[in-house]
This record gives sequence, C-alpha cells and structure tokens, in this order.
Amino acid sequence: MKDRGYYEGFGGAYLPEILIATFDELVETFQKAKNDPEFWKEYVDIMSTYSCRPTPITFAGNLTRHFGGARIYIKREDLNHTGAHKANNVMGQGLLVKRMGKSRVIAETGAGQHGVATATMAAKFGFKCTIYMGEVDVRRQRPNVFWMERLGADVVTVREGTRILKDAINEAFRDWVTNMDTTHYVLGTACGPHPFPEMVSFFQSIIGKEARRQILEKESRLPARIYACVGGGSNALGIFKAFLDDPVELVGVEAGGKGLDTGKHASRLCSEDASIGVAQGYKTYFLQDNDGQMKETHSVAAGLDYVGVSPILAQFAESGRIRFESATDREVVDALSLTIKKEGLIPALESAHAFAQVFKEAPAMSKEDIILINQSGRGDKDIFTVADAFADPKWQEFIKEKAEEYHA
Ligand SMILES: Cc1ncc(COP(=O)(O)O)c(C=O)c1O
Repeated sequence: MKDRGYYEGFGGAYLPEILIATFDELVETFQKAKNDPEFWKEYVDIMSTYSCRPTPITFAGNLTRHFGGARIYIKREDLNHTGAHKANNVMGQGLLVKRMGKSRVIAETGAGQHGVATATMAAKFGFKCTIYMGEVDVRRQRPNVFWMERLGADVVTVREGTRILKDAINEAFRDWVTNMDTTHYVLGTACGPHPFPEMVSFFQSIIGKEARRQILEKESRLPARIYACVGGGSNALGIFKAFLDDPVELVGVEAGGKGLDTGKHASRLCSEDASIGVAQGYKTYFLQDNDGQMKETHSVAAGLDYVGVSPILAQFAESGRIRFESATDREVVDALSLTIKKEGLIPALESAHAFAQVFKEAPAMSKEDIILINQSGRGDKDIFTVADAFADPKWQEFIKEKAEEYHA
C-alpha cells in the first residue's frame, strides 16, 4: 500500500477542510496499530472468541461432481458472528475507536449486514450508534433493520437521491462533519477517502491469510482461481491480498443486474458505463453520466448496488492483476438455488454472484485445478427477495396471512 492512499492515481482523500484533523487522527491511530504486533494479536483474539475465526474452508464435493471440472472449495465467511465478513472490519475499527477515546459510531448500510455488524460491535463496546440506510434498502432488508434497532441503534431512513447505498454514505458524512469530536464513521467497505480503503482491506486480509494456510494444509497446493463478489470491494480484497504474489488467477464478480446492455446493473470495472471521477472523497471508476451525475444502479443484491468501487481494485483492474466479470440477477438466483440443493449452504445474494461465475467456468477447467470461492455472507437476510424471485406460493400465502393478522 502506498502513502496517502494513492493507487496509481486512484484513491486519495478529497475532504472538506473541516474533516482534515479528524482524518489525520484516524490515519495516525491506524498506522500505529498496524505497526504494533500486539494490536493484531488483540484483533485475532477478539475475532476468535467473539466471532468465529478462523472460519473453515469447505470442500463442495457435490457441486464439484455436478460440474465435472475443477475441485470447488468455499471459504465460509458466512460463519462469522452476524453472518458476513463485515464483522472483520467493524471489530477492527471498534478497537481503533477505543484507542481514539470516542463514544459514538455511525455507519452506512446497503444489505444491512454492515449495519447489523456495526450495531453489534457498538453494543459490545458500549458505543452509541446511528445507522444510515436508503429507503429502498430499508424495504428490501427489513429483517436486518429489525435487528439493528433491537441492538440499540438508531436507524435513519435516507429519502434523498436514489435512496440506496450511495445516499446513505452521503448522509453519514453529513453527520460526521457535525459530530467529529465524539464520533467515528465506521465505513463498511474498501472505498472512501484514505485511510478507509487501506484500513478496511487490512482488517479483511484475515480472510486470505487463513484461506491460504487452509488450502495448503488440505491440498498441498494453491488454487488455480479464486472468486469473490465485488460491491465496494472489501471481501474480494480480503481474500485476494494473500495471493497477489502467487500464480493464482483472481476473479472479481460484479452485479450484472438485468444485463450489461440494459444499463440496469452495478458493474463499474467490466462495463463501458463507468468512467473515472472523484466523489464521496476518493477517485475511482463511477457509474456516472458525462456531467458527473451518478447514474441509477440496479442489483438483486443490495450490498452490490453501489456506483463506486475500491480504488485498490480499480488499480488492479488497470494492471490486469485481477479479472472482473459480472453475473446477472437471473444467473445469481439460479446459482443460489443450485448451491442450496447440492451443498445445503445458503449464500447471501451478494456472495451468490461469485458462485454464478464459478458455475460458468468450472466445467471447462481440469479436474486437477482447485477453485476457491469466498462465501462472504449467509442468505437468511434475503428471504423476502429470494422468496419473491422464486415466486414461492406458500410464502406469498404466509405474507398475506401475516398482513391480515396485523390489519385485524
Ligand atoms: C454478504 C455480503 N457480501 C458482499 C458485500 C459487498 O461488499 P464488499 O464488496 O465490500 O465485500 C456485502 C455488502 O453489504 C454483503 O453484505
């Protein structure tokens, strides 16, 4: 990682004057912690006693036989406390908040996983907590909103703009500017101004560190390819980082939505619809029009439905070190259905993007090759969206009955 957070021109910290001292404090606290071996020990200790680290890798024998190609392994980030890799980042930032002596945390959330993880961390460490969430996401991820509120967080519904993740980020920054002295903004992905991309991927790197050791223990060789879904980029960077110097092909899978030719997607690095710009404090590829206005994005997975992408991934896209692909909503729902039936695993809709791409490529690979998929989260939160996608009549009947009960 480079000083001041530039990655071949991507990244940086484009900040209002008023936030500079707050960012300086954060950079200093993070750099001290990063260079302190005791801090990493404290981090690993809390992740193994409070979350579920090390998360295992699972051999997907049935999917491997079904496709008849490469041997498929799955890194189980769904087994983290609160059900996704988001816990890795929030617990790490929580430890930094304690070091900075602040008493309140705020966060944005799309799928709600990051919001639940932040509210959980706040409950454990005794911080006040406010979560910003777009109105569209509040509607499609209601179970997570319910849990955030039970955990004691104040969930603010954002009705500005397109009412999804980018709008929630804008609101969180507005809050931060007025409450810097007491408050830390726990950004949920490897985006935003320096040091967030470096800091979030530092905490998420625990995924790849474990996975590399685990696959070598099991198979005595490295995977041929590793696949991860890409929203902002934190779970992808988390697993990829440990393999950057290895002869391993790294594949990031973005949200193809209704198809790249429809304009209704969230593919920044593998569509022609994105261009380089500066927004939300950093420089990267954004889905924006010629006037720099952010375009509407679409994905069945709320956590991938974002206009920007990590500057670190933008750099690797340019250098060719990471290959980027996209999977459509339809392919993702089909991949999810197959994974549930064949392996008894329920990946989050976000993670199912990585599975969908693997299912396209695994059959043509050699039986000697190993594939590793990062299952970034579990799918329980998606029950409403997935039940709609499957048009499950028994579920629809259940919802109707519940609604009638409420109105009775
Ligand atoms: C389960 C899951 N996977 C992936 C993502 C995408 O985020 P990132 O690209 O930062 O890993 C999210 C975001 O909410 C998520 O909840």
